[in-house]
Amino acid sequence: MKAEGLAARPPMGWNSWNTFGPHINERLIFETADRMVDEGYLEAGYEYLVIDDCWSLKERDANGRLVADPEKFPHGMKAVAAYVHAKGLKFGMYSCAGTLTCAGYPASFDHEFIDAETFAEWGVDFLKYDFCYFPRTADCKTHYRRIAMALKACRRPILLSACNWGVEEPWTWMQGAGAQMYRSTGDINESFRSIMDIADSQEPNLAYNGPYCWNDMDMLVVGMYGKGNVAFTGGCTDAEYRTHFGLWCLFSVPLMMGADLRDLRAESKALLLNKELIAIDQDPEARAPYRLWDEKDGRRSYCKHLSDGTYVLAYFNPSEQDAQVNSNFEDAGLQFSAGYALELTDVFTGEVIRRTEYYNPIVPSHDCRIYKARLVRR
Ligand code: GAL
Repeated sequence: MKAEGLAARPPMGWNSWNTFGPHINERLIFETADRMVDEGYLEAGYEYLVIDDCWSLKERDANGRLVADPEKFPHGMKAVAAYVHAKGLKFGMYSCAGTLTCAGYPASFDHEFIDAETFAEWGVDFLKYDFCYFPRTADCKTHYRRIAMALKACRRPILLSACNWGVEEPWTWMQGAGAQMYRSTGDINESFRSIMDIADSQEPNLAYNGPYCWNDMDMLVVGMYGKGNVAFTGGCTDAEYRTHFGLWCLFSVPLMMGADLRDLRAESKALLLNKELIAIDQDPEARAPYRLWDEKDGRRSYCKHLSDGTYVLAYFNPSEQDAQVNSNFEDAGLQFSAGYALELTDVFTGEVIRRTEYYNPIVPSHDCRIYKARLVRR
């Protein structure tokens, strides 16, 4: 176990579920691993490659062990892990606290220790641990503590990505149970509504989010454009992806990509690789942003403190019209008489502007404006 612990920063990676659902196999994993390295995702911080549900046979073997489906993974999971590791990536897999996974495959209820051993033998570095088919008479907290303990017993650093969809307010106890992240909502789907609902529901819980245990607002839908397993509502626009990725980064939560990396449009790739936004997400202090201003139609501006003494000022317009989004710097603590202005650098365009007292940009419908802000003498 690394002395400094796992997940000092929000975990970043790719997960198979959003696009591929049950249609997974080793070729997809190998090709995704290649892309993650060749196209700069690993370098940008995306290090975990995670296989979600539907990877196993429907029965355990004679020793009670989980078995990888030999049609989907003919070389076995150890070989998949070895390929992923050889690329410099970390390897993630999936099981569930209930008796079956959500898609009906065997899961780890009362098999926690033996399954953790199997994952450790295969070389797993990350375990997403879901909550379907969890017996009503069993205690949720006990079973998440148990899998955390079973993983630790393996003496291999395996990140526990708990996924109980917010049941029993995991932000208040999952950190203590030993997990490194916890899914706090039901499943995302590729729609602007789903993105905003998740962000709005988790904003009040961000004070619990921080180093070594992160609020997982679900895998990203950036770049899916209506294609794939959770893209059943027609897809999102580039402006909506900016808002989605911008909110996740502003909130300092895990960034797990969900699109097909072998077929990603340049705009989405640039967004997912935006260095400024990733640095905001990964800021060591992971402070929650607070609202400077908001309106009933969802328009809002935020300020977030960063560890290097700068700030983020972010303006979102989820309303249906292009409209002004306001901010009065007084509400961030900046008194006019103090003699400072804010120098704002647009994280998307690099444009630099200087403002005193307030900034009220016009933001297109469903889009955002995000700036790194620095105090400068007036
Ligand atoms: C859901 C989970 C999804 C995905 C799916 C697999 O419960 O929230 O992220 O893992 O199960 O069946």
